Formats: sequence, structure tokens, C-alpha cells
Amino acid sequence: MSVPHSRILGTGHYVPERVLTNQELEAKVDTSDEWIVSRTGIRERHIAAEGEATSDMASEAAKRALAAAGIEATDLDLIIVATVTPDMPLPSTACFVQSKIGARRDCPSFDIAAACAGFIYGLDLADKFVRTGAAKYVLVVGVELLSRVMNWDDRTTCVLFGDGAGAAIVGASDGERGLLSTHIYADGGFTQSLQIPGGGSVEPATASSVAQGRHTVHMIGKDIFKAAVKNLSAASKAALEQNDLTTDDVDWVVPHQANLRILGGVSERVGIPMSRFYLNLERYGNTSSASIPIALDEGVRAGEIKPGQTVLVCALGGGVAWGSAVMRF
Ligand code: ACO
Repeated sequence: MSVPHSRILGTGHYVPERVLTNQELEAKVDTSDEWIVSRTGIRERHIAAEGEATSDMASEAAKRALAAAGIEATDLDLIIVATVTPDMPLPSTACFVQSKIGARRDCPSFDIAAACAGFIYGLDLADKFVRTGAAKYVLVVGVELLSRVMNWDDRTTCVLFGDGAGAAIVGASDGERGLLSTHIYADGGFTQSLQIPGGGSVEPATASSVAQGRHTVHMIGKDIFKAAVKNLSAASKAALEQNDLTTDDVDWVVPHQANLRILGGVSERVGIPMSRFYLNLERYGNTSSASIPIALDEGVRAGEIKPGQTVLVCALGGGVAWGSAVMRF
């Protein structure tokens, strides 16, 4: 088994107060609680307040993770924010977070865009920075404010997503506990399957692009569904193989919380029962890069994910980009 070099020293999460239920969505679009629950498992999601920004949510989650790790914001050597819903295209959301949490003015801070796999990409980077000695303490945040990029008239997407932030402090491992491996992947053959087509260099914002809803999420759900089951299963198996772990060794799978049916497929293919999948998508919907750190933090604070347990995380999202990580928590 691999020797851990870095460890998650503390986690935190934040979700906005406002809860939007399936019943409320029934009043907005032609859908039903029954359809949403049976196709996805989602019952409600949290929606950011007017004026609340991505960096506000990220900063709250970060402060909670710092407190859990027992370090100060000024101790951070690196801030990585994984998001596809930044405060603005320029500057990075990470720079807003640096300022809002009171980190050092010279602390390198940048965003990464790997959609729902963003937190695992961030963990992978953090592990490498810690491993090489380039950083002692790294803040990794997964945060999304997807309600601002939804077409609230499109029932095929607006029922799926929610807002939220999760954060982890990654530092050096002092023993057996820590990250055992990370695997990250991407397949640019699926760029059409999940997009916000407007607002970039291909389709700069115009009055017409806004009127046509080009700045909202467009998705071919079936493509993503199939890619998710296949690649999440393969990445999970790769993670176990690399560490000579059997499925019985895994205490918890903390997956990206997109859809219960996707996870059912992964459970079957990998051979780990759903009872060992840590799930909260029923209450939050799909919060993209935030979903794994939110679930990890909930599990830790509820006393269900315990020190020393073997935890497998896996995620896939737009790109498609995906990955997995195993840790002795
Ligand atoms: N309410 C009621 N009916 C709906 C709704 C809705 N909210 N959305 C779609 N339908 C209808 C469709 O219009 C279609 O009707 P039709 O047969 O008359 O044309 C019917 O339901 C079936 O639609 P499908 O798209 O075939 O439904 P499917 O079983 O594929 O489920 C879903 C759709 C849930 C989106 C599924 O494809 C899925 O989960 N895909 C993965 C997408 C995902 O999770 N994306 C998140 C980002 S990436 C990630 O996080 C992994």
C-alpha cells in the first residue's frame, strides 16, 4: 500500500439558507416531485440569496475548514478554488477568497475549472504541492453558484442543481493517515454534452445571446449519464488497484452527488454496496465541485466518517473531466 504524503487536516462547508423544494419547482416548470425523485433522488436544494457571491460561500466554508484544522488563514501557502461559476471571469475567485478570509497578501491563489471533478483535481494538486515541499498548508475549495447559470424554464436541467461550498485544508501527513492516491482524467470528446455555451471567446455576450439563454447550462443528460457510470467505475477500480485494496477494505465511498441512479450503476460495477455510499444529494441536489467536500464535512461532523477509515472519492463532470482519490481519513 502507498505511503501517504499529505492529509486532509480539516473540512468545512456552507450552504445558503434558502431551500427550494421539488414541490416549489412543480409550480415553475412542467415537472413533478415523483419524476425528480425517481430519476435523480433529489428532493430539495439550497439557493444563494440575492447579492451572495461564489466567493462569499467559499470563504464561509474555508473559515470552517481552517477552524477544524486548527490553523489560521495567514498560515496558508496556497489557495485553490475549483469552480465553473466564478464571481467573474477576471480576477479569479481564489483572489476574492484570499482577501475575504484574511490570508497573506502574497499567498498564491488560483481557480481551476474541472466542473464536478474540480475538488478531486484540487486535491491532486494540493497533494503534489505538499509532497514537493512547495506548500505546507493548502486550502482547496469546491464551490458552485449554479442557480445563477440555470435556465429556470428548462425542466431538463433546473431540477438537478443546487448552490453550496465545501473546503478542505491539506497539509503534511504525520503517519498512516492521509491521501493514498489520486487519479485525474479528461475526455475532450464530450465537450458538447455539458456546456454554458455563451459568455466566452466563442460566443461573447450580446443582447441576443442573453435573450437566447446561451449563458445557462445546456446538457445532453443521457451522454453524461453513460460517461459517468463508465468512468466513475473505472477510476474507482484504478484507485483500489493502485493501493492493493479490495472492495471490503473501503469504509465509505463519498461520490460526487449527481444522481442516485448513476451511483447505483457505479455501486454495481465496482462491487461496493450502496449502504457504504455516503449520500446527501436528496437535500442538496447536484452542487458540482462542492458536493464531495460538503458530504465529507457532513460525514465527519456527524461522526460517521471517522479517523483511520478508508474513504474512496470519485467524481465526473463537464469536459468530461473525472477522477478518484483514496485516503485513510
Ligand atoms: N420533469 C418531468 N419530465 C422531464 C423532466 C422533468 N424535470 N426532465 C425531462 N423530462 C422528460 C423529458 O422531456 C422526456 O420526455 P419525452 O419522453 O416526452 O421526450 C422524458 O422525461 C425522459 O427524458 P430523458 O432525458 O430520457 O430522461 P432520463 O431518464 O435520461 O433522465 C436525467 C434525465 C435525470 C437528466 C438523466 O439523463 C441524468 O441523470 N443524466 C445525468 C446528468 C447529470 O447528472 N448531470 C449533472 C452534471 S454532470 C454530473 O454531475 C455527473
